[in-house]
Amino acid sequence: MNEIKLFCPASIANLNCGFDVIGLCLDTIGDEMIIRKTSEKGIKITKITGADLPFENEKNVAGVAALAMINAIEIDYGFEIEIHKKIKAGSGIGSSSASASGVVFGINQLLGKPFSDSELVEFSMQGEALASGGFHADNVAPALLGGIILIRGYNPIDYIKIATPSELVAVVLHPLIEVKTSASRAVLPNEIPLKTAITQWGNLGGLIAGFYTSDYELISRSLLDVVAEPHRKKLIPNFDQVKQTALQNGALGAGISGAGPSIFALCKGNETANKVADAMKEAYVGTSIPFDIHVSKINEEGVKII
Ligand code: HSE
Repeated sequence: MNEIKLFCPASIANLNCGFDVIGLCLDTIGDEMIIRKTSEKGIKITKITGADLPFENEKNVAGVAALAMINAIEIDYGFEIEIHKKIKAGSGIGSSSASASGVVFGINQLLGKPFSDSELVEFSMQGEALASGGFHADNVAPALLGGIILIRGYNPIDYIKIATPSELVAVVLHPLIEVKTSASRAVLPNEIPLKTAITQWGNLGGLIAGFYTSDYELISRSLLDVVAEPHRKKLIPNFDQVKQTALQNGALGAGISGAGPSIFALCKGNETANKVADAMKEAYVGTSIPFDIHVSKINEEGVKII
């Protein structure tokens, strides 16, 4: 195989109570990427559509992740990369992670799969770090591996694929403003009170238990964020109103997707998800900010060959 074409999915990180440690993979939105083997050594980004991104490897998340990977192996050939962005940068649904996870998945396939999944997560985290200014895998791991992924620890990377309840559906409203992950991380305090931590880890435990047992009531009670949301919501116009509307229309929970500005809701079943999406839409048309809205089941596969 000398060429591969990929679907590189969007993802929702944090899921309210799991800042930097949990995320899920979406199905209906993602980038496309084409990777080719070349006789010339090294990595060359040859085409980017859908976004104004740098072609220099060191300044591009896909370039950084690809370089990390080929520097870890002896080969006398290289790769060229085409990136076709559909996920906007600074959207909060893992735009940089889609590129970082797609490129490492694709190159690993063309190399004959010498690297393990956890090595691929580590390489893609290096790309992601360029965009976010921090090492975290709660977008790259679900984008790469699919489903809902808990990152138990980072030193070394230790992740668990959590069971996905079969009726779980995500709704994402993406206001078309850019919030840089680095800026959204900068508004967070370095320390949190013990009481806040207790609330958050109680909810994260509840959320995981709820996913494993398909206990939608427990999932709903656990989808709270007392750590990041209180500080970040000011960056997102109409956040409180959209969240409240989602809950009033039957969402299990709602909150900030990753670093924002996207607002997500998790729902039980397609019917509720579509109703919640309509209501969230209505709550946003009053603002002067254009937006996209997506309804998606959970993508269990992650990056896929198309
Ligand atoms: N966990 C990260 C954050 C996800 O919330 O900053 C964004 O990349």
